[in-house]
This record gives sequence, C-alpha cells and structure tokens, in this order.
Amino acid sequence: MCGIVGYIGNRDSQNILLEGLKKLEYRGYDSAGVAIHTNTGLALRKTKGRISELENRLQDQPLEGFAGIGHTRWATHGRPSDANSHPHTDNDMKISVVHNGIIENHLQLKEELEAHGYRFISETDTEVLSHLIAHHYDGDLAQAVRKAVSHVRGAYAIAVLSEHEPDKLVAVRWASPLIIGVGQGENFIGSDIPAILEYTRDVYILNDGEMAVLTREGVELMTLEGNFIAKQLFHIDWDLVMAEKNGFDTFMLKEIHEQPRAYEDTMRGRIDEEKQQIVLPGVSLTPEQIREIKQIQMVACGTAYHAALVGKTVVERLTRIPVEVDLASEYRYRMPIIRENTLVIAVSQSGETADTLAAIREAKQWGARVMAITNVVGSSVAREAEDVLFTLAGPEIAVASTKAYSSQLIAFYLLGMFMGQSLGTLDPVTSVEMIAMLERLPFQVEEMLRHQDPIHGIAEHITQQEHLFFIGRGLDYSLAMEASLKLKEISYIHSEAYAAGELKHGSLALIEDGTPVIALATQELLLEKTVSNIKEVKARGAYVIALALEGNTELEKTADQVIYVPRTYSLLTPALAVVPLQLLAYYTAALRGNDVDKPRNLAKSVTVE
Ligand code: F6R
Repeated sequence: MCGIVGYIGNRDSQNILLEGLKKLEYRGYDSAGVAIHTNTGLALRKTKGRISELENRLQDQPLEGFAGIGHTRWATHGRPSDANSHPHTDNDMKISVVHNGIIENHLQLKEELEAHGYRFISETDTEVLSHLIAHHYDGDLAQAVRKAVSHVRGAYAIAVLSEHEPDKLVAVRWASPLIIGVGQGENFIGSDIPAILEYTRDVYILNDGEMAVLTREGVELMTLEGNFIAKQLFHIDWDLVMAEKNGFDTFMLKEIHEQPRAYEDTMRGRIDEEKQQIVLPGVSLTPEQIREIKQIQMVACGTAYHAALVGKTVVERLTRIPVEVDLASEYRYRMPIIRENTLVIAVSQSGETADTLAAIREAKQWGARVMAITNVVGSSVAREAEDVLFTLAGPEIAVASTKAYSSQLIAFYLLGMFMGQSLGTLDPVTSVEMIAMLERLPFQVEEMLRHQDPIHGIAEHITQQEHLFFIGRGLDYSLAMEASLKLKEISYIHSEAYAAGELKHGSLALIEDGTPVIALATQELLLEKTVSNIKEVKARGAYVIALALEGNTELEKTADQVIYVPRTYSLLTPALAVVPLQLLAYYTAALRGNDVDKPRNLAKSVTVE
C-alpha cells in the first residue's frame, strides 16, 4: 500500500503535493518523493524516510511548477532507499511515474526492456512502468500509458507526468484505489479522498480498467481500450478525520475491513495458475535444501506468536517436518537446541521487535538458517534473515493487530504448500483444491464483513462482564489465544484461552452461573469432542457463544448464541473464523468507550526488551 497524489492547475504544485502526501502518510511512510514540471523540464526530489524529510529537502531545494505528481511509499519490492523511492523516470528523464500496487511480471518485463537497452537504477517493480511508457511513446501520452499497462500483470494505480506533454497528467487504475478530484481550473489525483479534500469535494472514483487524462481545464475519462466514458461526480461530505479512516470510526475497524485486500495482495504473484504451484520469489530454499530440513523452530511475540501456532499445524500437516513454536522472549534465554539443518522462522509484523530480533541472532549464532515473515520491507528482521516472505497487508496503524495477523496466516499457507509441493508431502489433488479455496478466502471474508449484526448483540452482552473464557481444540485453540488477546488488549476485560480438553484438569472451577464462554468449534474432526466440552461448561451455568461452521445448526441446541463461519478447507478456517472474533473484541471495546486504536499501556512496535 502506498499513497499517490497529482496536481495540475495554476497554483504552486509543490505545496499541494506535500500537503496531499501528509494526508496519505497512513498508507506508507518509508520514503517519499515528487516530480514537478518546472520551466527547465521535469525535476525530482525524493528521499528515504518520512514526508517531513522530503519537506526539508524541498525547503532547501524548492521546485516551482504548476503540474506534478507525488508518492509516499510502503515498500513491497526493494528496500526503502533514495533510489527506490518514487517517482521513477525513464532514462531520458522525460516521463515520470508514481505507482501503488504490485507488478507481478516485473522481472520478465525488466529483462525485455533491458534487451531493448533500457537501464534500471532501482530495485522496484515500478521502474518497469516508466521505461515501458517511454518505449511505447509515439506522440500520445495517454496511448503510451494504455499500451504499457496492457503488458502489465498485477495491481496498479499510477499517475504519469511527462515533459513531452507538460499540460497533462494521466492516471490509471487496476485493483488499487484511485480518485480524481475536480476543481475550478485545476484537477487532482489521489489514492484516497483525504489527499484532495482541502481543495475539492467533487471526485470521480475510478473503477478497475479505467483511466483519466487531466488538464487544467478538465478531465477525460476512458477505458483501457481508449473508449470515452461518462461518470457521475461524487460529492464528499465527510470531514478530514473520517476521510483518513475511509469513513470508519477507527483505524482498527478500517484494517479489519482491509483484510480481503490484504489476503489478495499477500497471494498476488505467488500462485502459478498454470502449474498450480506456489512460487515464493523471496525464498531461496531449493528443493534439496527443503528435503534436508530436519526441524523448524518458529519464534515470535504476541499476536505474531499466535499466528505461528497456526503456522505450526499448517506446516506440519503439509510437510510432515516437526515444528516447535517459541515466544521469542523465552527462546533467547532457554539455550534452544539447534541441530544441523534447522530452519528458524521469525514472524513479526513490524520487523523491529527487540525479542524477535534477539531470537534471530541467537539462532544464527548456532548455525540455523533464518527465514522471516514480516510486513515491513527493509525492517531489521527482513534484513537479518536469509529468506523473507513478506505479508503485503500494508501499514497497520491500530495497535491491536488484525490484518497483519491474518496475512501471516496466508503467508503460512503459502509457505506450507510451497514446501509440501517441493517434498511431495502435499498431493497434487489436495494442492489444487487448496489453491482454489485459498483464492476464495478474500470473497468469503468480504461476505462475512457484510453480516456483522449478530456480533453487535453479543458484544452488548459481554461488555458488562469482568471475566470471559475462550475454548477450542486444535487450530481453534490457537485461534482462541489470539481472540482472547484481542479482547483483553482493547476492552480490558480479563480473558483466558483454554484448550477445551484441558478444562476438567483445573480451569472448569472458574465457571459459574452466567460466565461467558466463547467456544470455537470450527474444526469438523474435533466437533464432537468440543461439543462435549461445551456441555461441560453449560452444565456449570456458563453462557456459551459458539463459533460454528455454516450448516452445523445442531450447536444451537447446546449454545446460547451461535456465530457462523463459511466453510473452507479445514486448515484455512482460522483465516475466516478470526474475522468475527476481531469484530467482537472491537465492538465490545467500543461499547466500553475505550480508545480502540491506542489501548492503554501498549505501543505498536516493541523495540525494547
Ligand atoms: C497485539 C499485537 C502484539 C504484536 C507483538 C509483536 O495485537 O499486535 O502482540 O503482535 O508486539 O509485534 P511484531 O509482530 O511487530 O513483532
């Protein structure tokens, strides 16, 4: 996820671009840049770091001009650096491009362009676009952009500025958001409404496959085939704070709703549809090296640790390699036994968690090969690991992790299948089925997000409580731990997660009349056993809210309330079942009037021990 802005009009574009970028900083903040058409031609300022760094640079070396494009980056290909910052240009500095999205076939396009003599100076996927547009330029910028994107596979929202046609901006959208703001004698491009809200409230919202050509005087909208289209102007009556949260009350709620997109982005380019195989470009493990792995150790903290617990089951089932999961803060001091051919997988959203980094260093010291699953390109964890599997969830602003956790699950599915395919422990028929189910997950999550009403009612019930328990077996137990953490960290209700089969070994003593128990019962093979455990707590007076698979209506006889989860391949169920649990935690905390995005005593990135 990155933010893009564009301006063409009669005002100084530098400040409009800068202000727009500041409003989009929530979309990414590892580097930023602008390209402006000045009276000496196209000029660029770009830098690694926050937008304030770009602002300093522009204060020292201002750019004057009435048309420009800008970008704030959240790296996906190529670490954060000056060279990898956008805008990118062609070799003659005639065309500049900002891009939000992922170009899946960028390596192939790069090779083809290099064969035509184009020189690449960054590690980004975006740079192919500037050369590709230059390659197709033949006197018509819009046509060159159209031809260029016809070769591109992936997701893109792009804005293009060219010295060839300085009175024009071209914007295209495919699977990444893009809006066009319409003003008086000036027009705007933005990834999102906040970028332009100060200047206009009238926007066109582009759909996939649509493009816009902006001049000072007007905006022409067309399809990627070049056919002109008419569109209704959309008038925005939100205030700025609402707009930054895309109309949601909080970042956490917005991030919960971003999960379908996060799933898609994390899968994008990693499934070879033709061969029905998983491809992980950032993982350099060869099939021989995978065959030699004797054990896997996973290390992480908090929510990422809970993702690793699901990851253990997934990877063990698909590869039959034994997996241990450790809290990073324990691993580093417990003198872990690292035998030859041990793979250590560190999981971290931020990639900066001190304990996780220390665990990586400990593992490396004993000769382990380290792989990272992280959301931040260029983070310390990503730099210290030999192999990296990025989750492409985009920046997570709310302290309580939601889309990063669920994207970590997607990463584990991809990794487990990648290794299982390589080892032959995942048979081709199951593999094809799993891929199909994996690709359905974003749609299923979208569907679940459309039906939240029952969760509100349940939240109202538990918001009065002081203690609450989650129970489950197998993957449901791993998910119960995450659900419990989510609830306690934002609602401040005391909650515990128990393996359902363990209740009678002690914790059952805590159940009394009315104690709420959230019973996760989404694992079909364990259903009967879990139902017995539900009956045990029910008999002691518990108020049971069950999470069940669609169709398992018999649970309504035992539980007081049932939340249904769509069916998928059993290993994939946590990626769906987590959604109502996040919403339940969210609405409970919101009803208690808590600051959901910034829970007390907590910080987003824990860089101290
Ligand atoms: C809870 C949460 C934390 C983090 C933990 C590790 O919602 O977000 O428990 O998961 O602090 O952080 P990362 O994943 O950045 O290493």
